[in-house]
Order: sequence, then structure tokens, then C-alpha cells
Amino acid sequence: MAVPYNRRTHYCGELRASHIGQEVVLAGWAAARRDHGGVVFVDLRDHTGFSQLRFNSDLNRTAYEAAQRFHHEDVIAITGTVAGRGDQVNPRIPTGEIEVIVKQLDVLSPADPLPFQLVEADQAAEEVRLQYRFLDFRRPEIQRVFRLRHQVAHAIRNYFHEHGFVEIETPFLTKSTPEGARDYLVPSRVQPGSFYALPQSPQLFKQLCMIGGFDRYAQIVRCFRDEDLRADRQPEFTQLDMEMAFVQRDDVMNMVEGCVRRVFKDTIGVDLPNPLPRMTEHEAMERFGIDRPDTRYDMELQDITDLARQVDFAPFKDALAAGGIVKCVVAKKADKITRKFIDTLTEDLRGIGAAGLPVTKVATEAGQVSFATGIAKYVTPIRDALCARVGAEPGDIIFFMPGRFADVCKYLYTVRTRLATALDVIPPNRWNMLWIVDFPLVTFDDQEQRWVSTHHPFTAPLDEDVPLLDTDPGRVRDQAYDLVLNGSEIAGGSIRIHRRDVQQKIFSLLGISPEEAHAKFEFLLEALRLGAPPHGGIAFGLDRWVMLMSGAESLRDVIAFPKTQRATCPLTGAPTPVAAAQLNELGLLLKPSAQPPPQA
Ligand code: AMO
Repeated sequence: MAVPYNRRTHYCGELRASHIGQEVVLAGWAAARRDHGGVVFVDLRDHTGFSQLRFNSDLNRTAYEAAQRFHHEDVIAITGTVAGRGDQVNPRIPTGEIEVIVKQLDVLSPADPLPFQLVEADQAAEEVRLQYRFLDFRRPEIQRVFRLRHQVAHAIRNYFHEHGFVEIETPFLTKSTPEGARDYLVPSRVQPGSFYALPQSPQLFKQLCMIGGFDRYAQIVRCFRDEDLRADRQPEFTQLDMEMAFVQRDDVMNMVEGCVRRVFKDTIGVDLPNPLPRMTEHEAMERFGIDRPDTRYDMELQDITDLARQVDFAPFKDALAAGGIVKCVVAKKADKITRKFIDTLTEDLRGIGAAGLPVTKVATEAGQVSFATGIAKYVTPIRDALCARVGAEPGDIIFFMPGRFADVCKYLYTVRTRLATALDVIPPNRWNMLWIVDFPLVTFDDQEQRWVSTHHPFTAPLDEDVPLLDTDPGRVRDQAYDLVLNGSEIAGGSIRIHRRDVQQKIFSLLGISPEEAHAKFEFLLEALRLGAPPHGGIAFGLDRWVMLMSGAESLRDVIAFPKTQRATCPLTGAPTPVAAAQLNELGLLLKPSAQPPPQA
């Protein structure tokens, strides 16, 4: 008689001393085997954990001999009796008090040798793990991440359902909506020469849902962006997207705070502060050099422009003469900071455009505070005032940066972040979440020589700044809000423009001609003409959120079937060339330079 694997009595991780004496049916993967002569022990694993199986030669000789031949990851089912382990209890695992004495065994599916051993998966190349992602999934730590992800999504859905939000599915085959990245295009067969774009976000559709009177919308939705990949970016990723009608900024922010508080509490038992702190974009840039500050540690950027005016050091003088500033970051008790670290950091800063990284060390000489090394001789005349201003003491290193405000922010942000890791100052298990508000509506793009949206073109300006749109657009603040967790932007949203005339004005400020606006956004402009309520919303990067909550280092760890840095899928091999007939059907002809390599 076959083992009734479809009527498992327990999962492998569930058995405890209280089950001793019970008959059980278990099924799973043979994870490890220990042959002790006359008895074989096998760790049987499923998604809940392990149970130790005991195959006694005198109880079922056939099963015992089969167990001797098990390969890693054979799929088996057994019936047996739960027994105590006597003095062999293993307190390190939850099922360590018991073992299952096997009466009957079925090998449901033998496994060939694996491309990597699951217990040594950390040493396997990531490409190989992703190629065999289903093997990777069998590891408890990977299971934990995806179950956490499920819990997060579940808590989110419950929350929004309870608050009257409607889940509405928006199209994937659609028209481009600019969110700052390139579009993934899908050629149309029935309209040769025309293309759909995969959505970078459902932005305009959710706005249309508000104009359509749904009042509250939320969707967990896939988005597609063809951008340069980094550890925190994927070409397809998931947003928690929401929108509300007849609201102002605080209404959306309060609703969102309720959601994140619920998710943190329900999934990892963390109480977030109520309310969450808020900081203006300007303050974030001044203090941290970035609009997504990591506030878990200090080392803030400090302005010393006035003191730098007294210093005869050419880079300071040049920056000040050009209307720039001088700021610094102080690394406290910086013994761990070596010459080599500073040299590498300086090189890296040069790589992103900096001219250099002036530093000096605070020391003591004859019982007096002094500056040693680097630009010591230049800054010694302002030594006492500088140390008092920035709180520098012997043992510290001061990193200076002269230049334009935006450049100083960029470079010192890098310095601060690298120092934090080198000095190991980031406290563990801290969840610093805060809102960033009052961004500039537009910033001037030097390369393109035009204004570009800080968020997207549908973001409303602050009411009191609207008059500045005509006179000084760079000073107009927007009604946007970003949510930052431990230095990562996990969500961004805004109150939207709900008036056609304002939307047209913003398009023209952004250099979008009436013709282009008509071609791209007429459906929106039309809707804004037909009764659009004030509305606003936000979208979370769900993958980033789960990545931070789970302690993963890359989005690839929290996406079931992710893409590599080269936007490929090692498992399926996508993207792949397609047959000439398919191209033909779509009316497409490849340029010679885009011909795929010959198939092996
Ligand atoms: P935004 O472009 O800021 O806003 O995106 C919202 C959030 O999505 C996440 N995110 C990404 N995650 C992984 N890989 C990517 N390539 C990627 N790009 C963005 C970030 C980000 O905070 N329509 C607006 C939202 C709105 O205004 O309501 C939007 O998409 O965590």
C-alpha cells in the first residue's frame, strides 16, 4: 500500500514531545542522511522545518536499504511513529525532542546531484542560485523572506479594505506615463508600427479612478522601468499604489502612517512613533546632503562658509568667489580611518565629479588642540572657532567640501555614508522612518537646459507658491511627500493637480508643447475638464520595504524571480531572440547592429 502523502497528518516542523506515540504521515525532501549501521537517520524537510526520521533495519528492511541510497533532495513520503530521543535530544531545533520511527517509505521523486548544496548556498554564485531559484526557495531563510512579504501584503490589503479602499486593476498594455525612466515597449501586431508601453506606474489611471468617483483606490501592482539597475532597483517591481479624493496632504499622510504602523506591528512586532517625524527637503539637504536621510546616526553636514572666508586655501577661495559654500563632516574617534580609506574615498569622489577631499586630523600638541596632516596649515588660523563650531576634538578627522550647494551635498553625503560603515556607527534593529516634505516643484536640468519635475508633472504646487510659477519657478514648493526608512525612499506621493489650466501651465513650464501634451495626455486633460475632485495619493516600493524589513541586501533577495544587473532572468534566459516569423508578423526589422548572436 502506498503512503497516503495527500493526507499528511503534520508538517515536518510541527512535531513536539506531545506527539510521542502518535502515528504520522509526513512528506518532503530528504535533506541529510546519517548512516550508523543498522540504523539510518534522515532529516526530512518541508517549508515548516525538519523532522528526524529513523530507519531501523529490523523494522522495515526495504525502507532501511532505500534510505541508505537516498540522494540529497529526493522527495519522499513516510508513515511512522513519533518517539522520544532519550538522551539524544537536540535543544537547538524545535523538533529536537522527537524522531519518527519509519514504518513505510515511498520515494516519490528521486533527485539528481544538485548544482549547489542548499546548506552551502551562500557560497554558490548568485547567478547559479537564480538559475535554480526553485532550489534556492527550499532554504528556510528564503522561505522566511517570502512569507514575510506575503504577511506584509496581507496586512496592507486588510488595512485598505477596512478603510473603504477599492482594489481596481489598471492596464499593463498602455501608453507611456513619464516617471523618469525609459519605457518597456510592446509592439502591436494589429496596428503595425504602434507600440504599447508597460506602465512605469498606474499614476494616471488612479487619478482617473478618482475623477470617476471611486473615492479611495489601492492596488498592489507591478510596474516596469527600463533604467540602470542597482541593488535597490529592478526593471519590474511592485508598488502598493493608492489614491484618495477630496483630501489634503495631511489626510493622505495620516492614512499611510496608519498602514505602516499596522504592518510593522502585525508582521515584526515593531511600534513606530505616532506621528512619524517630518522634515522639509531643504532641511534634509542641509543636514544630510540627501533628500532621503538616514537619521539613525549623526555625523551631519555642518556649514562653515563664514569661517572659510578667513582661510587662505585656493579651493575654498574659488568656491566662495563663485558664490559657493564650504561644509564639513566630522568623523568622531576616527582611529579606524586609514590613509588608504581616505585615498580610496577621494578617488571615488573624483569619479563623481569632485575636485578632491580636503581633510585634517584633530590632534594635541604640547597639551593644546592642534591640526595635523592634510590641510592643517591652512585651517590652523580658524582652529579654535572651527573646533567649537563643529564639535571637533582630538582623535577626530574633519572632511571639508567647498563648492556649489548641490555638489557639496552630493559629495558629503557620500563621505557621511562611507564613514558610517567604516566607523560602524549604525545601530542595529532601528527603524527610523520619516516624511520628507516641501520639495521644489521643479529643478533646472543643466544638461537639458530646462525645468524638470522633482516628482512627476501631475504634482500640485503649494497653493501659496502658485504666483511664483510665472516669476521664479525654482522657488515653488510642491505638495509632495516621500517616506524614508533608514536612508531609503520607500514611498513617494503627492496631492495632484486637479485643474486643467494649472496642469497646462505646468506642462508648458516643463517645455511640453501644447501639441505634445495633446498627443500624450489628452485623455487626462479631457478628464480634468469634466469634473475632477481634489485628490492625492502615494506609491510604496513594496520590494524595497520588504528588503529593509527582512534585512536583505538586494531587491533580488525579496523578488521571487528577479532580474540580474544586466536585466536578464537566469532561470528562463529572458530576454531571448525571437523567430523571424514573429518579427515579420509585428512588422519589425532588426538593424544589423541589433542582430542577436547565432543560437548555439
Ligand atoms: P515613484 O516613482 O517615487 O512614484 O515610485 C514609488 C516608489 O517605488 C519604488 N521604486 C522602485 N523600486 C524598485 N525598483 C525600481 N526601479 C523602482 N522605482 C521606484 C520606490 C519609490 O519610492 N506614481 C508615483 C507615486 C505617486 O505619486 O503616487 C510613483 O511611481 O520605493
